[in-house]
Amino acid sequence: MEMNINLAVPILDLKRSFSEIRPEVFGALERIFDAQSFVLGSEVSTFERHCEKYLEIPEGSAVGCASGTDALLLALMAADVKEGDEVVTTPFTFFATSGTIARLGAKPVFADVDPDTYNIDLEHAMSKITSRTKIFLPVHLFGQMCALETVRDELSNRGVKIIEDAAQAFGSSRIVDKNIERAGTVGDIGCYSFFPTKNLGGCGDGGMVVAKDPETADRLKKLRVHGSGTTYYHDEIGINSRLDALQAAILDIKLKHLEAWNEERIKIADYYKLLFKASDLHDFVTVPKVLDGNRHIYHQYVIRVNSRRDELMNYMNENGFGVRVYYPLPLHLQPCFKYLGYKEGDFPQSEKLAHEVLALPVFPGLRQEEQEAIVDSIKKFFKN
Ligand SMILES: Cc1ncc(COP(=O)(O)O)c(C=O)c1O
Repeated sequence: MEMNINLAVPILDLKRSFSEIRPEVFGALERIFDAQSFVLGSEVSTFERHCEKYLEIPEGSAVGCASGTDALLLALMAADVKEGDEVVTTPFTFFATSGTIARLGAKPVFADVDPDTYNIDLEHAMSKITSRTKIFLPVHLFGQMCALETVRDELSNRGVKIIEDAAQAFGSSRIVDKNIERAGTVGDIGCYSFFPTKNLGGCGDGGMVVAKDPETADRLKKLRVHGSGTTYYHDEIGINSRLDALQAAILDIKLKHLEAWNEERIKIADYYKLLFKASDLHDFVTVPKVLDGNRHIYHQYVIRVNSRRDELMNYMNENGFGVRVYYPLPLHLQPCFKYLGYKEGDFPQSEKLAHEVLALPVFPGLRQEEQEAIVDSIKKFFKN
């Protein structure tokens, strides 16, 4: 084992980008503590309006909530998803995508993923749509969008709504017929997570739902406060899922830097691509592929390693490089979803990815010499 402590690189170092915004953040904290107003209020509505501008969606369509998980739950509730309904989605994602469907008594119906983008295979997904399907729930995984324009008309004709899980894709976009389409704004409802590790991350849990239809947006605003339009009067049964003023204020400061930070992520990814090419590792490692027209914002930079992935991960970690597996077990094989009746072999691409993916450090402030050390170490592992 070679301990290279000087070049230790964590999977994520939030301190580097925080130093840029430190005075602004502490200014906002003072403002909020002086006001002693901590939940929803003007800090949250200001942030919502700024998100709408950034995403180029109508005023009033963004609804802050307590987490990305709640964003999904609220979206499904606003779409009236209930027991017996089917929701077609991907098994290769974070648990919340399906956990929320199941919590409402609905049934997650999985389709396999595309081996190049790791996103749901749209053709396979369409083959799973039946008269019981209420929602199609794709995930823009790791920061790259799915080509939803290829399925949206057919889904709409068949009465199936689209809820996008854009938890990892705030600022990710795609050119369609010369227009820019942004992750989370293509379908009927879009969901974002502001968990601290996200590319737009707060100082605790936070999330947002956006809805094109004003009635749905209004309903979401009620659902996040126990279904109440007027305080203590409840039109329906909602949940408690409010965004804190502290989170909103910090996210609003970060939102101003997001474009620059996303651009930095793209540059880091380009440099990894160059380094892998130069190190002649193509027999061992496949770098992420970007669909034509996509602006992949690399919430995660995830390579495929065709053999010895776990050994490589341990070797890298022992040498001071934070690398991780997102995700080691596809959702159709999770013990809690046994009742759905899936078995190993049902989704071969997802299962293969679970054995091959490896996320490398990617965050604003990551230095080129650190990337060089990471790729050097991977090269040593395979070629020594
Ligand atoms: C794809 C995906 N969906 C949903 C979520 C849930 O978001 P949160 O952790 O904010 O509840 C996450 C976050 O980890 C995610 O990555």
